[in-house]
Amino acid sequence: MVDLDKFIADCRAALKTRDPASVVEKLVQDVIADPKGLDAAFAARTRGNSLKDRMVCNDEELTVLQVATAPGLRSPIHNHCMWAVIGVYDGEEHNRFYSDAGPKPEQIGEQLLKVGDICRLTADTIHAIQNPLPTRSSAIHVYGGNLVTREGRSMWNPRSLEREDYEIEQLSRYTRELSELA
Ligand SMILES: [Fe+2]
Repeated sequence: MVDLDKFIADCRAALKTRDPASVVEKLVQDVIADPKGLDAAFAARTRGNSLKDRMVCNDEELTVLQVATAPGLRSPIHNHCMWAVIGVYDGEEHNRFYSDAGPKPEQIGEQLLKVGDICRLTADTIHAIQNPLPTRSSAIHVYGGNLVTREGRSMWNPRSLEREDYEIEQLSRYTRELSELA
């Protein structure tokens, strides 16, 4: 089984380096090489399905969580205002990237993450994720800050595409709405 305490300690040590996201990327690469072991480690430490429930570490410096997405799940467009490393270890996670230079967010790129793929997000990344498969997908997400309380984050209303202040419960409601439409 993957040792999540060691993983979190290694991530904390990475925060003290010049380029934490690069170091964390290598750590994520190591743990997703053992998909069964990583899944078992998350199962042993978490209860429930909300984003908060899936967190194994959440403080001002670091958030580590498992993102397990149901078939067809779609998130609204949102930002994080901190770097992130995503490593997929089961299924697929489709990322769409956006620019907020205009009045409405405009798609500027996309990346389909498959098992073993890693995606690094910078502090100014704006994205939306989707599970394109009829099966569950699982990923480990590491953020260089507090994913729940970080100030200044935004999400975009899926109907009007207006920018709104990020609020984790509202993000979950938008996700449920979008996923039922898919
Ligand atoms: Fe995100």
